[in-house]
Amino acid sequence: MPELHKLQIAQSFGKAARCYTQHNRLQQQCAATLLQGLPSSLGVVLDAGCGPAVNTQALCARAQAYYGFDLSAGMLAQAQEQFPQHKWLQGDLEQLPFAPESFDQIYVNLALQWTDNLTIVLKQLIHCLKPHGTLVFSTVLDGSMAPIGPMFQRVTGHRHHNQFLRTSELLTCLQQAIAEVGASRACLAKFQTEQIAIPYASMRDMLYDLKGIGANYQPAGRARLTREQLRRVETGLESYRENDGMLYLQWRIGFVTITKNIA
Ligand SMILES: C[S@@+](CC[C@H](N)C(=O)[O-])C[C@H]1O[C@@H](n2cnc3c(N)ncnc32)[C@H](O)[C@@H]1O
Repeated sequence: MPELHKLQIAQSFGKAARCYTQHNRLQQQCAATLLQGLPSSLGVVLDAGCGPAVNTQALCARAQAYYGFDLSAGMLAQAQEQFPQHKWLQGDLEQLPFAPESFDQIYVNLALQWTDNLTIVLKQLIHCLKPHGTLVFSTVLDGSMAPIGPMFQRVTGHRHHNQFLRTSELLTCLQQAIAEVGASRACLAKFQTEQIAIPYASMRDMLYDLKGIGANYQPAGRARLTREQLRRVETGLESYRENDGMLYLQWRIGFVTITKNIA
């Protein structure tokens, strides 16, 4: 039985499935970075946390076989509608239903920040790779959501978004996962972080995008904001407008490649 907060994450993303592509500028930019680093031939591919099949076409163009996997039935229904010819599997990244050595390529764009124990998830993903297989992923890191996140905290006294791993914590998870599967069996081929800024005309547009991709659920629970608090956040954000008149939402993203050795 899935835990309650997993059901709620799945429902929140499910509600966003139909209009997701109107709000996913960050996800598109991260996908472009991941896809650019992939070889021309991918073999058997798992698109984990696939959402509404936004990367399916790009991955399938290079894949021998493609499997989409996601926690959210709503996201998978949208994916199935777009690409009925593919296999869409519902499940949790923390309890992968796949046999060891199933995939040549595992691709995870901006889904792993929703899992509770990254080291365990990474170990499972590495187990599912065939020898010489590759896991590529992007994930959200601490320092993201400025300036709106810190402004909400200043006005209400509480954090209003999920806690993201620090870069050093992500590196520790990577090292632990590799050490636990055996350093001779996997290696960290690439690790980089990037700062990505997405422009908005207003605070409301920022919030609309976060809700629009389904990323507005908070496992720790959400304190309701009063109109007055929202007004104070909106006013406070005005001092962050750049010369082009836009407000920029800042994201710190980790990009990782792990390869499986033959040993
Ligand atoms: C921000 S969306 C990213 C979707 C897509 N990969 C993209 O590039 O746009 C995050 C996705 O991860 C899925 N997800 C969240 N937690 C998950 C979990 N524990 N197991 C599998 N999928 C999960 C969500 O349902 C959602 O579809």
